[in-house]
Amino acid sequence: MRRLPPVLVEDGCSRELVSLIRTILAACKEISFRVGQGALSGVLGSTLDENIQGETQKKLDVLSNQLLKDILLESGYVKAIASEEEDSTVAGNPNATYIVAFDPLDGSSNIDINSLVGTIFSIMTVDKDADANDPAIFLQPGHKQVAAGYVLYGPSTMLALTTGKGTRIFTLDKTHGSFLLTHEFASIPADTKEFAINASNQRFWTPAMQNYVADLLAGDAGPRGKNFNMRWIAAMVGDVHRVLSRGGLFTYPEDTKDPNKPYKLRLLYEANPMAMLIEQAGGLAHTGTERILDIEPKEIHQRVAVILGSKNEVEACLGYHK
Ligand code: AHG
Ligand code: MN
Ligand code: MN
Ligand code: MN
Repeated sequence: MRRLPPVLVEDGCSRELVSLIRTILAACKEISFRVGQGALSGVLGSTLDENIQGETQKKLDVLSNQLLKDILLESGYVKAIASEEEDSTVAGNPNATYIVAFDPLDGSSNIDINSLVGTIFSIMTVDKDADANDPAIFLQPGHKQVAAGYVLYGPSTMLALTTGKGTRIFTLDKTHGSFLLTHEFASIPADTKEFAINASNQRFWTPAMQNYVADLLAGDAGPRGKNFNMRWIAAMVGDVHRVLSRGGLFTYPEDTKDPNKPYKLRLLYEANPMAMLIEQAGGLAHTGTERILDIEPKEIHQRVAVILGSKNEVEACLGYHK
């Protein structure tokens, strides 16, 4: 099986980009180890702190953030980082041209129940003379990402990665520490009978989403004429991995549960990297009103509605939003 670095070199990635990706993965291997140790390394449970978005931070959220932040800022490859767990961006090497946005640990509510969690990352470029201390350097639409990926800490540790030439899936060989190419090109089937949504929010959805899901639930007797299955892992990284593996529709739609927070997922380090991975595998990623990768971000922690997955099913869902 082929190892990650030669695969990236064959794709024409610059030496620096390959090194940057390997740097991110070095931190992810350590996170994988800590997640695997669980209670044995005393990393389960919460801290007394909240992040800027008002979520209580888990010990592993903080630890994963620190590992990624330290290794990236020390590497010299990045001008700045943005993280779910950092109030603002953090400057690195002022002469570097790469910036990285990340969700250090996605699926925090799964940590203490030994369920799926992962790390999501997005790599963009900026001018050499751009100001490393200016958060505005991150406000670029997702179609400008040069690479995006996630590492899923599951029964095996897997990496989904794209540099704009398809989405590949690697598996971590824990005895030797290499990511090996186990799935050359992910290809999401255009049609599906599987969807993922947190159904407990049903009464807070827009009429469009209420109608769409009602028609899915009506099964073969309803307007869709087929029976659907439902799955919800409560970690975007796990749900997106299932969609990349066998198709499906994943959505975290707009809701009115908290009038000040109509959307849950964050654009720069959740929606954008996942949208690139999904589109590079032949799927679609949309908000209901626009393509996710075309959104011009206004704020680093901006949230958006997300509807992604199998092309025909996402289009069917968008039909209800017209
Ligand atoms: P995070 O743990 O990084 O804050 O992200 C959590 C997100 C995402 O992973 C997942 O799809 C969603 O929250 C789960 O939401 P519910 O708690 O509504 O199931
Ligand atoms: Mn969080
Ligand atoms: Mn997340
Ligand atoms: Mn997170």
